[in-house]
Parts: sequence; structure tokens; C-alpha cells
Amino acid sequence: MSARIIDGKAVAKSVREDVAAGVAALEKDHGFTPGLAVVLVGEDPASQVYVRNKGIATREAGMRSIEHKLPADTSQDEVIALVRRLNGDDEVDGILVQLPLPGHIDANVVINEIDPDKDVDGLTEVNAGRLVLGKDALVPCTPQGSILLIKTVMEDMSGANAVVLGRSILVGKPLASLLLAENCTVTTAHSRTKDLEEVCRGADILCAAVGRPEMVKGDWIKPGAVVIDVGINRVDAPEKGEGKSRLVGDVDYDAASAVAGAITPVPGGVGPMTIACLLKNTLTAAKRRRG
Ligand code: GUN
Repeated sequence: MSARIIDGKAVAKSVREDVAAGVAALEKDHGFTPGLAVVLVGEDPASQVYVRNKGIATREAGMRSIEHKLPADTSQDEVIALVRRLNGDDEVDGILVQLPLPGHIDANVVINEIDPDKDVDGLTEVNAGRLVLGKDALVPCTPQGSILLIKTVMEDMSGANAVVLGRSILVGKPLASLLLAENCTVTTAHSRTKDLEEVCRGADILCAAVGRPEMVKGDWIKPGAVVIDVGINRVDAPEKGEGKSRLVGDVDYDAASAVAGAITPVPGGVGPMTIACLLKNTLTAAKRRRG
């Protein structure tokens, strides 16, 4: 059997088109354009690329992108002062503080300064609490995107055994909450889990978010399972030439796709969904605030 490939690029495109249509409708009916503020502290090269791509996608969806780039030695108090100013700015509907922050800044403190109704990353304690309690929350983008991808191949997740590998605040924990909200029986597995392979073999839906290249092997997967690979790992690829690298997920893709029913590739699976869901959250926040 060869798994169905879940095309994250195509699904993300469709989400972005829906957002663009929603933005156009807001402009027509209410006369305003949603704005997303992104705060970047320092010069981390990967973060610079992410922030640039977020800005491009925001403008493509017809929204305003407001970028604040601060030097690496900016104090925590200065970052907090900026976040508070953005909280009070009526033209700003969403605020995203790009992570990681430099070592002298406590990301937890800064993130929790964001007005929960502008917290388009869904990372404040208020939104995390709302999600766990099953209340209307702004939901973290990568887990939200993962659920949308599962829905393209599985109409009803009710009663399915879902295993989430990883327990990060950004992905594992919120993804487990979202799967529970879909009435899955959810197991969160992690580095201390006993019989990890066996736990994975019981999964109808297996989501890997551990950041370990190709850790999940083909024989960990239940035949026909839906496999969502959240990992994006850069590994050496000497076969492509000296010093070359390639991106791989947390799942051994070739082996897994011979067993799974459906699988997300890396790249082109979950990755593109993150920005798409960020735009979706920004539109949602804008509508709630002033729609
Ligand atoms: N850095 C890597 N991923 C993310 C994300 O989803 N949100 C933020 N704010 N920073 C990140």
C-alpha cells in the first residue's frame, strides 16, 4: 500500500484564499483593513526568514503588516513597553512576538503581556486555558493547521486513537487538546514514555512533533493510519554534494508511506499551514474586535 500524500501547500493556499475573501468582505462592509504586528528581537537568521515570509503572506491576504525589528540588546522592559503600546493601538488586530527571544529576555513574561484577544499565536496563558477548557480561544497555528490537514482525509475523528509525540507548549500540548475536542482518545507520548513504539502502533492518527530527524520508523505505524509529521529538521546530505543539506521530518517518510493510509510530506505538509493559520487567526481577531 502507498499512502495518500496530504498536500499542505494546496490546503494552505485554499485557507489563504478564504482569508483574503474575508478581509475583502470586512473592508467592503465595515471599512477597515486588519493589521498584524510582528516583533522581532535580534538577528537570528531563521527568524528573519520567518518574519519576512509572514509579512509577505499578510500583505498577499490584503492585510496590513507592521514589523518592529529591535536590536539583540533590547531590554525586556523595552520589549514589554512595545507590546503594551501595540495592545493599545486600535489599528493592530494581531500581535506576534517571534521566538526564540535573546537569552536575557523571559519569553514567558513577554508573551503573557500580549492582549489575549490580539494573541494570534495563541500562546498566552489565557488562550491556553481557554483551549483546555473548550472555550473560544485563539489556537496556536501549527496544531490548528495539523487538524485541518487531518480533516482532509478523515471526516470524523470521533473515537479514533490519536497519539501525539511531543509535549511542547507550541505544538504537542495544544494539539492534544484539539484532538480531544474532536472526540479522539488521546495519548501524549514523550521521551519518558514506556514502550513508545507499541504506543505508536496503536495510533489511528499519529502526530510527530519532537524535532528528531526520522525518529519514527515504518514499523511503528499502524497500517492505514493518518501520519502528521510536524518536524522540520535540517540534516547533512553528502549525496547532494559537499556541505549540502536537506529537510526531513520526525518520520522516516519512505518507510512510513508504505504503511500509512495518509501522510504529510516534509517540506510541503504541516509547514505551509502555520502561516495560513496565522492569517486566519488575525482575521478572526479583527472580526471579534471590530467586525
Ligand atoms: N518561532 C518558531 N515558530 C514560531 C511560532 O509559531 N510563533 C512564534 N511566535 N515564534 C515561532
